[in-house]
Amino acid sequence: MAKSASAFVCQNCGAEFFKWSGNCSNCGEWNSLVETVLSTRTRGKGRREKSGAKPIKFSEVEGIAERRIPSGIGELDRVLGGGIVPGSVVLVAGEPGIGKSTLLTQLALRVGQESTKHEARNPKPALLAGRQYQNIKYQNSKKNVSKFDIPSHSAGRRNSNLAPKVLYVCGEESPGQVKMRVERLQSHLGGVNSTTSEVKNLLFFPVTDVDEVIAQISRLSTSPKLRGAGDAQKIGLVIVDSIQTMYTQDLTSAAGSVSQVSESTSRLLEVAKRESIPVCLVGHVTKQGAIAGPKVLEHMVDTVLELTGDRQHEFRVLRATKNRFGATDEVGIFSMEDGGMQEVTNPSDRLLADRQEKTPGSCVVCVLEGTRPMLVEIQALVVPSPLAVPRRVASGVDPRRVQLLTAVLMRRCGLRLGNMDVYVNVAGGLTIREPATDLGIALAITSSSQNKPLPKNSVAVGEVGLLGEVRKVGRLKQRIAEAKALGFTRFVTSQQFSSLSEVIRAVL
Ligand code: TYD
Ligand code: MG
Repeated sequence: MAKSASAFVCQNCGAEFFKWSGNCSNCGEWNSLVETVLSTRTRGKGRREKSGAKPIKFSEVEGIAERRIPSGIGELDRVLGGGIVPGSVVLVAGEPGIGKSTLLTQLALRVGQESTKHEARNPKPALLAGRQYQNIKYQNSKKNVSKFDIPSHSAGRRNSNLAPKVLYVCGEESPGQVKMRVERLQSHLGGVNSTTSEVKNLLFFPVTDVDEVIAQISRLSTSPKLRGAGDAQKIGLVIVDSIQTMYTQDLTSAAGSVSQVSESTSRLLEVAKRESIPVCLVGHVTKQGAIAGPKVLEHMVDTVLELTGDRQHEFRVLRATKNRFGATDEVGIFSMEDGGMQEVTNPSDRLLADRQEKTPGSCVVCVLEGTRPMLVEIQALVVPSPLAVPRRVASGVDPRRVQLLTAVLMRRCGLRLGNMDVYVNVAGGLTIREPATDLGIALAITSSSQNKPLPKNSVAVGEVGLLGEVRKVGRLKQRIAEAKALGFTRFVTSQQFSSLSEVIRAVL
């Protein structure tokens, strides 16, 4: 393969160098030189031939909303805004071991599935996929369109296997390992079966050279005649696990470096748009942010999904932190089980399942995850401290918030916490960032410190200010409705109380 030229470009001033150095001699910035492929088109040739591109009228621009491909996983569709948009690049980021590969393997199986159940619920997939090919074909050459290329809706029913193929690029694991995962997921659904359409449609591609991946995508998206017999359908989805393992020979730096990761992504992005095939990338992030990766990519890709959760707990929360094709305030909730990532449609039920109502130190709060209200139990434990500076330990909520609320309780409500350790925990391993939990945290701490349980079936929702006042929070109606649906009858909110001390006097 011919090597294209690369140079080290300063990310601060844009100066180009042939050699790497720690310091840019042009602007003086340290550690700003990144190896970059120089486009042969822009170098050398003075004037390029015009491509003949023309402006398009608004009415002629094709909408992409109705061409979304439903993934078949409800919680994932919810986060994506209704399905995968053809030609979009989705980055699924998360810590190692959180379940990215599992979720994407499940997605691969669902997309490749030719099932009546899936079609009944979403009557469009075959048509959507078909229309997508139709568009590409028509753009290229109208003569080329054969009946095979455009599976019509009714043909989708007659032909036994029209679900698109899925290309799973496994740079991280061997195909054997991915197969093991597929079998694990299948065995939970009632037996391993390698003849079903979803498994037949799954193509493994164990390479790490991004140019080979691109060549393969281009090959698989051409017409069946060119591809040769055997591969009847085109691919409908590409999964790259993970982007950190991808590299191009045009750059000398190691796989996983900033330049390799961003160059590989930009090449995949180009092929995705050109062939109108969605690409899902897996991206690792570490707590320290040590690996060069997703942060650099966020501005390149169309959608960034963050998979978070506590590895010791079953819950996994999928959030869109960027979405060019949908809202970013939706979250998907899964639980990691033996059969893979299971959708959790009613998280409150699960989170409150092991609650001990009569024990002091527990308070139920209603938080919003995206637009969805969710009931969560906050637990607190207040014990005498052996230390000169007592501990304030929080898991699942911001420790600074706990410190602040402890201070407010001491100063405004007269609680004696000066020589007590305060531990706060969110049951179920969730992490909550909403200030609406303040009142719940304060009440759980007070309940534990006074050794009195809160009244049965009560829910607290409210933000607490430094003056000890209870503040209003958004979407209170929605939260109360969710609590009512789960059998809660007593609501402690800013509607009934104006200050924290008033609340404590009334309920404890
Ligand atoms: P994985 O998807 O490999 O994580 P990532 O790709 O984000 O690094 O998932 C890792 C964990 O998931 C691993 O500890 C095993 C667990 N797991 C299950 O609990 N159930 C399952 O069905 C599967 C496939 C994995
Ligand atoms: Mg993985």
